[in-house]
This record gives sequence, structure tokens and C-alpha cells, in this order.
Amino acid sequence: MRTQLRSDTPLLEFWEATRLSADDARYPDQAEPAAGTEEAIRAALAGVLVRGCGQRTGTVLAKGGNFVQARTTPSAGALYPFEVLVGVSVGERCVTYLYEVDSGQLNPLASAPPVPLAELVAEAGLADAAPAPVHAVVTLVARPWTAMAKYGRRGYLYTYLDIGHAATNLALAARAAGLEAAIHLRFRRQWLTHALGLAGTCREPQAVVTVTVPGPASAGRAAVEPPTGGDGVLTPVWRDRRQAWLEPPGDPERRNFEALRDISLSYAPTAVVRPGQVTSVAEPPVADPSADVALRRSTGGPVAHAALAARRQSAKGFLPAAVSLDQLAGLLDGLDGRLAADFAELAGAGVGVRLVARAVTGIAPGAYAYSVRRHALHPAGGGPVDEEDVLATCQRQDGLRHAGALVLLHTPLRELLREQGRAGLAEVHLHAAAVAQRLCLNAARERVGVTCVGGFDEAYAARLGRLPRDEEVIYLIAVGVADPAARKADRDPVAYSHGRTAAGFI
Ligand SMILES: Cc1cc2nc3c(=O)[nH]c(=O)nc-3n(C[C@H](O)[C@H](O)[C@H](O)COP(=O)(O)O)c2cc1C
Repeated sequence: MRTQLRSDTPLLEFWEATRLSADDARYPDQAEPAAGTEEAIRAALAGVLVRGCGQRTGTVLAKGGNFVQARTTPSAGALYPFEVLVGVSVGERCVTYLYEVDSGQLNPLASAPPVPLAELVAEAGLADAAPAPVHAVVTLVARPWTAMAKYGRRGYLYTYLDIGHAATNLALAARAAGLEAAIHLRFRRQWLTHALGLAGTCREPQAVVTVTVPGPASAGRAAVEPPTGGDGVLTPVWRDRRQAWLEPPGDPERRNFEALRDISLSYAPTAVVRPGQVTSVAEPPVADPSADVALRRSTGGPVAHAALAARRQSAKGFLPAAVSLDQLAGLLDGLDGRLAADFAELAGAGVGVRLVARAVTGIAPGAYAYSVRRHALHPAGGGPVDEEDVLATCQRQDGLRHAGALVLLHTPLRELLREQGRAGLAEVHLHAAAVAQRLCLNAARERVGVTCVGGFDEAYAARLGRLPRDEEVIYLIAVGVADPAARKADRDPVAYSHGRTAAGFI
């Protein structure tokens, strides 16, 4: 007997959703859409998204010893405590898609009602300096609990750093594809939170990358091309039939999120600012540059961002071998590249770059201030650095023991917090992540091993780096000869390197 289905039953809805329609089939790279159409913009954007923050070949070890899909940007504990929402025009409306990185799909986010893109841009305070209108709004939404359940309060800073890596890499990927991109931190967070249906989800939009297709005024720049693949990244597919939902929070997550009120930018009024060109590296005050160790410019030649993004990975351990000065020179080259961002006007903004050399052929062990302007290392004192120093600095993470050098990204943090408050905290972490992301890409070009390190003893690192009083280390990058056989050890739900007191839970 045939069972009668009422038209409103979930079963019938389910059945409808499972049916295929020939119109739905979209194969990337098959037919090239006409330039300037919504299809062409989506195709270009899909390439930017995957290079910026999507899948790369392979897996990485994450929580509980499980392997998860590797991505183009690093993440503390491979937890990726953020979601990527992509607003694009579909006819008159702006539809917001959730980029589901693991499945390589972009599905419309059920909680975000469609609004015209121009309205979204204007109301959220994302006005751009670009002459052409914004074509896509990529919102990086932190889910702090994902990191804080493991790392405690320090995990909140990791959301800033993880998102800073992704925002920087997205902007670089967009530029490499001939598009214009601007990173926004000073936008109307509450408005955007509601517009995206994020209220009550324990998530917060931390950064937005607006993407613009250059108009005729920018003729002569690289053409906007859909991705061609071939570098091992999985270009996401736009889907319109299945809606995406965000996982709802539980009670511990709610309590944790509530406790972020005094720290999070979401609860602070923001003055909207138009983007300018920003560099994230601060120049050190050096009285006598005659003692400088001049560094060679990278001879490797420019390698396309797409190739580097696909190749980037963290060293899981280092071999007991020295890195060469030339490798270091290539690693540090071009860190001051500019990006359009709306937090550009702060004088002296950005982080200082300090090198602690332990085993680098061509220079004596010790601390060096890096001058990005002169591309030179200025000796800052200190003597031999041993493995015990590295271990003590890096919370006894044994995989980092043989690092030949440590790069310390630093700033006078307390002064910054006094002057800029919570915006200062967020912005300096974006600067640090922007520098670290460029280091990661340079490392892929120079074939030198790097690991971004969040678990470090700040006071020990500052002493080792001979930092002036008041300067604090925000982020640390360990450099060395990567050991391809090394495996991460600390993948329990608890981060032993973070102890319980310093990182305590809110
Ligand atoms: C903010 C941040 C903090 C990190 N802290 C550490 C750390 O303390 N020790 C470590 O070995 N790796 C650290 N990593 C590297 C991650 O473990 C690594 O990115 C992750 O396992 C994914 O692997 P992949 O970078 O090769 O894609 C950190 C990465 C980020 C972005």
C-alpha cells in the first residue's frame, strides 16, 4: 500500500531536498563563466577562499589524536576556532554562505536573512577605499569556546591569531588573483552579529575581508581568473539547495562567552574608519647601524601565492642542525608588505621583530633586532643560547628543542592596552598574525621549517631576546630544519604546555 504523505511533513521536505535537478550541477573549471558576471565572481572567490583559508593536501593531528583535513593557514592545536561566512550578490540580494572547509562546500546560512550587499556594507561600516563597489564580504567569525575549552583564557588570543592568519592570507590570495581586498577590524560588530543571525550562538565576527573586482580604472592589472587547480587544494563548490546551520552552544560555552564581555570588541562601540595601506612591522630604534649584519634579498624569485599557500605547513619537529643565514634572510624578506586595512592610522602600529639565534651558520648566537627597512639584523646582545633556553621559552615542548632560531614578535603591550583598550589587544594580534603568516609563506618558498608557537613563557622569551623593558612578546615563531618524521605529541583535550594557573578558565 502506498503511504500518503502530508505536504508539510519533514519527511516530504527531506525527500524534496534529496532530489537532484540538472540545473544544480556545477563543476568547477569546466565552463569558464563570462567575465564580470556573478558566476565569474563566485568562481574567482572560490579560488581565493581555498587559498586563503581552505583545504590543502593532507591531514594534521588534532584533538584526541584524530586527524583532520589540513588547511592553508595554521591553527593552535589544529582546532580552527572560527567559521567563514561569505556574502555575495545573488541578483538583488546578498546571500551569506557558510564555507564548510572540510566538505569543500559553500551552503547558504539559514540564520542570515538576505539583504542587498550594498546595505550590508554600509550598515556594517565596511565602506571601502576602492573605487569599485564591494563584491563580497568574507566574515571571519570566532567561536572562542573551540579554543578556550583546551587553552583557557589564552585560547581567546588564539582566536585572534588564527583569524589574523586567515584574514591576511585571504587578502594576499585575493591580490594574487587580481582582486582588491581590505581587512576590517573597525566595523559595527553588533549590527553584523544580528544581520548574520549570530546573536545567542556564542560566536563573534572578529574580522571582515571585503573583496572587490577592480573596475576599468585598474586596467592592466592581473586578470580575474577562476582557479585552475593542480596544486592540491580543493576548490569549494557553491551550493544553493541545502541550508547550513551553525552548531548551537551548550551551557559551558554560554557561560564562557558571557565572561568575555569585558575583553571582547563585540561589546565596545567602534568608530568606523576607511581602510588605508598598513604594514604590520615596526622598525626598531637603532642608534648605530654600522654593526648591522646585512641580509641578502631573496634570490628564489617570486613564487605565486597560490603555490606557497598550498605548500605551507608547520614543522612538527626539528632536526639537530643549523639553519643558514641565507635561509633566515629569505624568511624575513618582504615582511613589511602592505595590505589595505582599516586600522592603519595608528602611528608606530605593528610589532617589532626580534631574532634569537641559537644555531645559525654565519652569525654568532644571541639576540638581534630586525630592521625591515634595511633588511638587516642589529646585534642586541646575549651570548650562547642552548636547547634548555629553547625548551624553557617554549613551555618544554620537546618537538621544538632543536629550533635553530626563535623569532619574537613584540610590542609595548601594557601601554597599548592603556591607550587603545580592547581594540589595541585585537589589533596587535592581527599585526602579529599578519607577520607570522608572511613568515609561513616565506618558509614554504625558502624550504625552511617554521612552527608558530602560542605556548611560550613571555618573560623568559623577552629576557632571551634582550627586549627593552615594557616590550612584551605577543607571538613566537620557531625556525629550524624540519624533521619530516616528527609527530605532534600534545593532542589531549588539555594543553599540558599551558598549565592551569596562567591559562586558567574563565
Ligand atoms: C596561534 C597558534 C599557536 C600555535 N601554538 C603552537 C605551539 O605552541 N606548539 C606547536 O608545536 N605548534 C603550535 N601551533 C602550530 C599548530 O599546531 C599547527 O598549525 C596545526 O597543527 C596545523 O598544522 P599545520 O600548520 O601544519 O597546518 C600554533 C599555531 C597557531 C596558529
